[in-house]
Amino acid sequence: MKILVTGGCGYIGAHTIIDLIENGYEVINIDNNSRSNKQHIKAIEQLSGKKITDYTIDLCDKPAVEEVFKTHEDIAGIIHFAAYKAVGESVNEPLSYYRNNLISQINLLELVEQFKIKNFVFSSSCSVYGNTNELPVTEHTPRRDAESPYGNSKRIGEDMIEDLAKISENNFIALRYFNPIGAHPSGVIGEIAYGAPQNLQPIIMETAIGKREILHVFGDNYQTRDGSCIRDYVHVMDVAHAHTLALEYLANNKNEENYEIFNIGSGNGVSVLEMIDAFEKTTNQKLNYKIVERRPGDVEAIYADNTKTSKKLNWSPKYNLEDMMISAWEWNKKQ
Ligand code: WQD
Repeated sequence: MKILVTGGCGYIGAHTIIDLIENGYEVINIDNNSRSNKQHIKAIEQLSGKKITDYTIDLCDKPAVEEVFKTHEDIAGIIHFAAYKAVGESVNEPLSYYRNNLISQINLLELVEQFKIKNFVFSSSCSVYGNTNELPVTEHTPRRDAESPYGNSKRIGEDMIEDLAKISENNFIALRYFNPIGAHPSGVIGEIAYGAPQNLQPIIMETAIGKREILHVFGDNYQTRDGSCIRDYVHVMDVAHAHTLALEYLANNKNEENYEIFNIGSGNGVSVLEMIDAFEKTTNQKLNYKIVERRPGDVEAIYADNTKTSKKLNWSPKYNLEDMMISAWEWNKKQ
């Protein structure tokens, strides 16, 4: 089966393409490389020995995207990753986030209807839950006001699919990622930050390799077991495989509704200080850090109840925190 991936040159997209190929799918990619480059495509072709048909097109350019659908009439499913995703940047540039993330998704969904693409998987985010105190979160936990235009663009993205699904013959899934970290065990693909990284995992690595003087822990006065924020870290390989399982779930008509939502989280809450401890223990590298004031927009704690995903998609995270740390460390040492 041929699958169209958008944003396949990015971190989760590239890991998902490898998983799709390993499971026998043919993949075509659309990525305008505004936040990525072709390094990952070359690495995937090396790793898999398969050629990836790769289009450097902006999804906001609908006529160009339509040409791809005309060329490939046998697209059996789409996985839509392509979007801007830096929370802080989105606060400073809300309109460019809404334009890019929403126009591209509207174009894609219009083409899904025009070309009757049966299966569509949307890359969503746990940020749609906002600052919830109902933990762990299930897919029924009410969404709250997003903390940023980025999170809001994901929430609107889900709403657009929900409204379309009511009148569409096609099938849709939204995967709500928690905190994907780690890298492919081969060490040839991983997270590449564009501009200064904002996320904890790449910042831990930069501090460890000496590219950064010190890691700032954003607050240790939260109501958590050690005062620092809790998140649900999940290996990017497990996140990637969830996409293949979601496509199979739809392709085999296992879905009860034509729009379903799944949490993609390990189910374990880990604090910032515990992440630092896990890195130091796993890699035997001391991390230089200090506690500073809280980061605006941070939620105190969020982690997933992934029961629905494990039952319905038959998904269970295979990798633990140590695997995540080691694989990320190996990748970063090679950069
Ligand atoms: C994790 C924790 C920080 C940096 C991200 C994405 C979001 C979504 C989920 C995709 C927080 C703390 C961080 C640092 C720190 N992904 N931290 N010092 O904020 O949970 O959200 O993943 O949809 O879009 O932004 O991830 O890695 O930025 O922060 O103390 O230098 O680490 O306060 O508690 P976050 P993060």
